[in-house]
Amino acid sequence: MAEKSRNRMTFERLKYYRNLGGGVISCIRSRMSKTPRPLCFSLMVTNKCNCDCDYCFWKHKSQNEDMPLEEIQRLLKEAGELGYLDTLLWGGEPLMRDDITEIAKSAHEAGLYTKLSTNGWFLQENPGFGKYADLMFVSMDAIGKPHDDLRHCPGIFDRVVSGIEYHKIHSPKMRIYVCCTVSAQSSFEKIKEVSQFCKDADILHYLTVNKSNQALEEAKNVKDMELESDQLSELFIKLKELKHQGYPIRNSDYFMDYIIDKKNYYECHWPRIATVVYANGDVLRCYDREPYISVRGRALKDVISDPLYVETVNKCQDCKLACVGNYALDASGLWRLEWPAIKSLMQIAIT
Ligand SMILES: C[S@@+](CC[C@H](N)C(=O)[O-])C[C@H]1O[C@@H](n2cnc3c(N)ncnc32)[C@H](O)[C@@H]1O
Ligand code: SF4
Ligand code: SF4
Repeated sequence: MAEKSRNRMTFERLKYYRNLGGGVISCIRSRMSKTPRPLCFSLMVTNKCNCDCDYCFWKHKSQNEDMPLEEIQRLLKEAGELGYLDTLLWGGEPLMRDDITEIAKSAHEAGLYTKLSTNGWFLQENPGFGKYADLMFVSMDAIGKPHDDLRHCPGIFDRVVSGIEYHKIHSPKMRIYVCCTVSAQSSFEKIKEVSQFCKDADILHYLTVNKSNQALEEAKNVKDMELESDQLSELFIKLKELKHQGYPIRNSDYFMDYIIDKKNYYECHWPRIATVVYANGDVLRCYDREPYISVRGRALKDVISDPLYVETVNKCQDCKLACVGNYALDASGLWRLEWPAIKSLMQIAIT
């Protein structure tokens, strides 16, 4: 008898539907509310990292101080009480925190759909978090040495592969995605090989793109690594075909079509949807990335009702930057209740 797929529909998966359904309802509530009612709590748990990826948007922050466990636990608890639906724990490298299991546990106990994004180096040293995380993204940009080279981290590819195998066994309920960052060093052939790896390993594949019109002094490396719109479009035509041939790519068609059609504007609502908190407690203001408000020592409820926060967040719909980022695009489509966005996110949910 054929083995059951890890990605088949299970009772636990219903939680994802609660999340998606809750997302639609929260978007409607958020649209009707004058004050922001964000639903995603994105938390950089550390700035520290063992890699040095050329395209990394965040590595220049590595000297900042990280928040202690107690403060993170408080924030996650408050996020659950305030009605946030999910959390993404990321970094830097989140598995470099020796209290990451406690952090994931607190997120889970707060009722948040808990996701963690890792470069995979420390997966086997961390058996515990997989009991609480609903989903993990593990980065893999290419197969073998080219991945080590991109991350400037010799040996990381092999550790990612063995770490994934380990968690497939030890964390059977956790969804596993391989996350491929599309940059000037990517090619269709390399990405197809990664997708084949995911197909063979019975896990899922997600592509991240980050293309912004911002020219950030602090992150010049990012601009150098971006593909031009024409190149991205050509690449995504082929990747969309691959997805429709049955490779386990789980980016929405909505997102892929935006890139393929070389669109250059959409009404963005990302800051209304997500609260992104840096490891030192600063809340991200995406359109200039300047620090403006902090959650340190302050109730989350007070932060998100602070007039400065409200004004900043409400400004987003006038933002003309139209960042090509997966979350911002998909979530803004959902927020605007656009059927193509809802439809393609539902398609992902059931597969
Ligand atoms: C910021 S990292 C945090 C987790 C971990 N350090 C890692 O690399 O997986 C999360 C994801 O963002 C990706 N990423 C980093 N810089 C990016 C950029 N400029 N554009 C798009 N994705 C990026 C990484 O490759 C990774 O897959
Ligand atoms: S592993 Fe992640 S956080 Fe570290 S440098 Fe690479 S992209 Fe940045
Ligand atoms: S397009 Fe959206 S995510 Fe990008 S800077 Fe503007 S408001 Fe922020």
